Amino acid sequence: MSWFRKAQAPAAGTAAAAPPQEAGTAKVAMTVNGKAAAADIDPRTLLVQFLRENMRLTGTHVGCDTSQCGACVVHLDGKAVKSCTVLAASCDGSEVTTIEGLAVDGKLHPMQEAFRQHHGLQCGFCTPGMVMSAIDLVKNFPDPSEQQIREQLDGNLCRCTGYHNIVKAIKAASQTMRS
Ligand code: FES
Ligand code: FES
Repeated sequence: MSWFRKAQAPAAGTAAAAPPQEAGTAKVAMTVNGKAAAADIDPRTLLVQFLRENMRLTGTHVGCDTSQCGACVVHLDGKAVKSCTVLAASCDGSEVTTIEGLAVDGKLHPMQEAFRQHHGLQCGFCTPGMVMSAIDLVKNFPDPSEQQIREQLDGNLCRCTGYHNIVKAIKAASQTMRS
């Protein structure tokens, strides 16, 4: 994207082109949870910052900022990504789904419902990222084994260590999602 590149000083004797927008900002427009979202942002803004600070969608959490914990996972054009490692400006024109966008007409997504039923959360800090990763996991492994679930979730950490029930919840949700 052009706004990542620093504006270069014009060569001596040439007219300087008018900057397309306020220096130091980038225009970004994307669809978040089915709604248009646009803002002028610092080009260094991370997707997670854009979601939490510009869109006020605070369900996406920041647990580490070093791409380890997975608390920040959202869906970008249908794929799970760690939003702390994605520049918001690179998502221009994309579709983003956050945990807030899963329930339809007040009805929880089957994965959310399974986490509720199987007690797949304790403090809940990791839960939004777990749920978003788990939905992508089931897309790729419609009938996952326990081992596959554990392997595929290696990018999501639960500091309450509630993995046993998280795995049970994902297994149950995969059955509901298949039917
Ligand atoms: Fe993104 Fe931890 S905050 S991986
Ligand atoms: Fe507390 Fe996972 S439920 S971090």
